[in-house]
Amino acid sequence: MFVKINVASFVVALFVVLVEGSNVIESIVEDHEHSIGTQWAVLVAGSSDWYNYRHQDYTGKYCNAQNFYGVILGNKSALTGGSGKVVNSGPNDHIFIYYADHGGPGVIDMPIEPSIYAKDLNEVLKKKHASRTYKKMVFYMEACDSGSMFDGLLNEGLNIYVTTASKPDEDSWATYCSFSGEPCLGECPPKGFNNTCLGDLFSVSWLENSDLQDRRVETLEKQYQRFQDAPEGSTRKSEAYRKLSEAISEREHVDKSVKHIGQILFGVNNGPEVLNIVRPAGQPLVDDWDCLKSFVKIFESHCGSLTRYGRKHVRGFANMCNAGIQRDRMDAAAKQTCSS
Ligand SMILES: *[C@@H]1O[C@H](CO)[C@@H](O)[C@H](O)[C@H]1NC(C)=O
Ligand SMILES: *[C@@H]1O[C@H](CO)[C@@H](O)[C@H](O)[C@H]1NC(C)=O
Repeated sequence: MFVKINVASFVVALFVVLVEGSNVIESIVEDHEHSIGTQWAVLVAGSSDWYNYRHQDYTGKYCNAQNFYGVILGNKSALTGGSGKVVNSGPNDHIFIYYADHGGPGVIDMPIEPSIYAKDLNEVLKKKHASRTYKKMVFYMEACDSGSMFDGLLNEGLNIYVTTASKPDEDSWATYCSFSGEPCLGECPPKGFNNTCLGDLFSVSWLENSDLQDRRVETLEKQYQRFQDAPEGSTRKSEAYRKLSEAISEREHVDKSVKHIGQILFGVNNGPEVLNIVRPAGQPLVDDWDCLKSFVKIFESHCGSLTRYGRKHVRGFANMCNAGIQRDRMDAAAKQTCSS
């Protein structure tokens, strides 16, 4: 079941690579005579910064959900822009996918809208499996709430091993952060990286472990066991991100608007409680993903962009859908909240 991390005859289908992500490639590419088929890697940085890294195949507006799906599925006609490289894999191949950026319940961000919804991503993985174009797949995902991208959604029997940075309702933790005039958060980044965080405890843990361990021997299971009991970090990624963003009034607007909508729909006292419900493990965030998407759209049409910060409220919208709220009621509540 567990695929070793080392790979051979490595064909890189780079999607987007972070500056610091260049290490990822180097640490993965290593000759190994026992490989079967071709080994592919898709590296996705949802960040809209760091344009200057030279080995990106899809950048800027071309780093989008549609292209990501096209790359995974090996479907060139689904692409717009970029190098046109796709995972043109066969039945004996192994595929590694690594995503790093911000997420919220049931969603992960791309540099431009729309976000990647859990349901759609899992449909793509199902489709990839049905096309019999891989033997094993490993998906590492770094984002807040990233467990919610797969919990109750990833089908058994797809031969996909997934590890996420966080549980369905948990932040992921930043490190290698430096902010002017403040002590570093977690490890200090190298000189020259101001006002940013270069890593996340999840990714840093597996990358640094991969550098140290004999990758011909260590299995993903062993690596997972090594870190599953790791202590919590000192800095929530969302908190670090908050420091990066100065848009305090914008955040208050989003928080207040969502709360107010919840109160209109469920009552002043029950509203906040209903919005924060976390479903038991093994149950997806929401049953009706179209409802969830439309509620986010309705919110944005009346109240403005949810913003990356506001991703955390996606669970609230999911709970409105789960409670059977109809679109017209949501529309009226959002309008009433944000029209004045
Ligand atoms: C490839 O993408 C195009 C455009 O989205 C779509 O019409 C077509 O059905 C896809 N092909 C396969 C094999 O999925
Ligand atoms: C980073 O911060 C240091 C010290 O505050 C400063 O000297 C340096 O110019 C800054 N570098 C960048 C790239 O902003």
